[in-house]
Amino acid sequence: MKADVLLGLQWGDEGKGKIVDVFTPRYDIIARFQGGPNAGHTLEFNGIKHVLRTIPSGIFRENSINIIGNGVVIDPVVVMSEIHALVKMGVDVKSKLLFARKAHLILPTHRLLDAASEASKGKEKIGSTLKGIGPTYMDKTGRNGIRVGDILLPGFKAKYDALVEKHKQILSHHNFEYNLGEMEPEWFAAIEELKAFQQIDSEHYVNEAMRSGKSILAEGAQGSLLDIDFGSYPFVTSSNTICAGACTGLGIAPNRIGNVFGIFKAYCTRVGSGPFPTELFDEVGQGIRDRGHEYGSVTKRPRRTGWLDLPALKYAVMINGVTELLMMKADVLSGEKTIKVCTAYNYQGKQIDHLPFDYSPELLTPVYTELPGWNEDLTGVKSPDELPASLHAYIDFIEKYIGVPVSVVSVGPDRTQTLMRKQVAV
Ligand code: GDP
Ligand code: IMO
Ligand code: MG
Repeated sequence: MKADVLLGLQWGDEGKGKIVDVFTPRYDIIARFQGGPNAGHTLEFNGIKHVLRTIPSGIFRENSINIIGNGVVIDPVVVMSEIHALVKMGVDVKSKLLFARKAHLILPTHRLLDAASEASKGKEKIGSTLKGIGPTYMDKTGRNGIRVGDILLPGFKAKYDALVEKHKQILSHHNFEYNLGEMEPEWFAAIEELKAFQQIDSEHYVNEAMRSGKSILAEGAQGSLLDIDFGSYPFVTSSNTICAGACTGLGIAPNRIGNVFGIFKAYCTRVGSGPFPTELFDEVGQGIRDRGHEYGSVTKRPRRTGWLDLPALKYAVMINGVTELLMMKADVLSGEKTIKVCTAYNYQGKQIDHLPFDYSPELLTPVYTELPGWNEDLTGVKSPDELPASLHAYIDFIEKYIGVPVSVVSVGPDRTQTLMRKQVAV
């Protein structure tokens, strides 16, 4: 068996959690491969709404194994609070959740460094979620990090102390007040609890699983335009959010990747700083924000909204090798008389159809095609045949531009509000 990958094609929050939950019954194993508690993946079913941060979105389904892969960065405090909430709901987390030994730990001082770095950037700040993601990946690549496997070894506390000493030195160069003593007790308490959970060498585990015929779905976090290499640098996250991240973040060889499911919203959103060519600053943008409840799942920050950006989507499809597209939140566009879709950019006096190196608003303006909208409420639609003709035309337009089929159309946050337009290749 090959492993399938499901990931976001925009700036995150595309609806990955919802679709992983919908797809989980077809898979034996769901695995997160990068990111950490900067993610907020929302699932809705049976009147329950739940937001997951580090734990894969397969956790609610019977018989699914959920792996937190080596490419993920873990805050023990956050993951333990996620676990407590799940246990309260009756989920047998201990038997279904496996931690990769090689996953790196977010220390309290990583969170402090994140906050100090953002504060020092002033207006140029990234708009980080302040969960310590950047500093933890910096320590990983700087070869200073502490990993999940370390917590069971005798030298753990000494490693922790040495790294914290380094962090204190860096913090002393910032005009930044902190009280580490207040943060450490809950961190060490969470580490003690974490010791009781199953640890694996994820590379051996997933390869053995595939060899014995088990199916795996790798769940991306963030989105392709936040990728450390291919996103709108420096306004990105600190990991490879793209398909290749599933290889390095789990130990899956590139030729063992099967289907790549790319998720996008019928429009665009972005939270945090950075360029956003199709951003709307008017009542249309506010309408999308209100109808789509576009406020951060964890931070509650208002998300910036704008029209669908096809050159950016095509770029994401290219670098991920997307085999099928899934369009989310089509219901949110209901009521727009006209829908605009960006098909090219005016860039320094020329029309181009690809994202340039720098796509700051001073350099680039979108070129739009206008398509007719629809008025129907889609949230109760049960079959793709019932979708309005202008939505079909919108999807056809996207498929033609991108050259990849749109298999799924999502018309609401619940599991059941998911329409299979085409047979999904699972
Ligand atoms: P993720 O980070 O990609 O998992 O996405 P988030 O959970 O951060 O944000 C997606 C939001 O949209 C959540 O509140 C979902 O419940 C909601 N959602 C997902 N699909 C749909 C949809 O088709 N329509 C509507 N109206 N909401 C949706
Ligand atoms: P999910 O998985 C949307 C954004 C932050 C910020 C930038 C860097 O729910 O789609 P970081 O904390 O990673 O250093 O922040 O990336 N960001 C996200 N935006 N969805 C996410 O995750 C995000 N994770 C990080 O807002 O602009
Ligand atoms: Mg999210």
